[in-house]
Amino acid sequence: VGQTTLSEIYNLYQNKVPLTCITAHDYITAKIADNASNIDMILIGDSLSMVSLGYNSTLEISFEEFYYLSKAVTRGVSKKFLICDLPYGSFESSTAQCIDNSIKLMKLGKIQSIKIEGSYEYEKEIKRLIDIGIPVTGHIGLKPQRFSKTSGFKVQGQALKDALEIYKEACFLNRLGVSLLVLECIPSKLAKFITENISVPTIGIGAGNSTSGQVLVQGDLLGCSESERIPKFLKQYENFYGKGLEALNKYGNEVKNREYPEKKHEYGIKDEVFQEFVK
Ligand code: KIV
Ligand code: NA
Repeated sequence: VGQTTLSEIYNLYQNKVPLTCITAHDYITAKIADNASNIDMILIGDSLSMVSLGYNSTLEISFEEFYYLSKAVTRGVSKKFLICDLPYGSFESSTAQCIDNSIKLMKLGKIQSIKIEGSYEYEKEIKRLIDIGIPVTGHIGLKPQRFSKTSGFKVQGQALKDALEIYKEACFLNRLGVSLLVLECIPSKLAKFITENISVPTIGIGAGNSTSGQVLVQGDLLGCSESERIPKFLKQYENFYGKGLEALNKYGNEVKNREYPEKKHEYGIKDEVFQEFVK
């Protein structure tokens, strides 16, 4: 019992069982993820700033806001391996800032790996985290915290120079000692090559079917948002937004028509009590 451990994740990886990861952003989504039978890992992704809080990018969320939601997620997780992002602005200033905020998250008692978007520029921070016993998950390819530099959210590594750069970053992070590596929005052949040439599991999103595992944003998979712009890599397994709208429309109509609540939803009071009451 207890949460899935890193060594259990590595056993799956060594046996070539695809690893499954899904994000969670609050208690409800954490519970769904924690109870889903074929999910190995849960990620508290800073994508929650856009998906759940309505910000335009992941740059806008504060550490305090992210921490508040991370706490809610940890209350809902008891089984799965739990990874947590460091949001923009919470780790770049200094190694001390990175370590202090990582430790705050680790003190929630459930998080088993800290994820950082980037590579060389955070060599010291990643090394320090590993040195003090915090498994690090790397994240390369599309880095949403740098969406200004990449001029939006789009596939990375299609040009030769970029593909080589991403491969070099993967090797660098592997040497540095990251435990897992997220590959976001890169050509599937590049993701396959990286997966075959590094010694830790790769978790892909928009990186094809040859990575060691997959991750999706839960709100995207469930179709929770109104947005019709669906990225090419995404499969929407549900339409929660549409279903929610339909249910709320129905509720509104039924109340307007005095169809809800029905007799079976009512609480009673004994006749003799009520007769006394109206006297
Ligand atoms: O924030 C997030 O959800 C992520 C995944 C897309 C990997 O970083
Ligand atoms: Na993220």
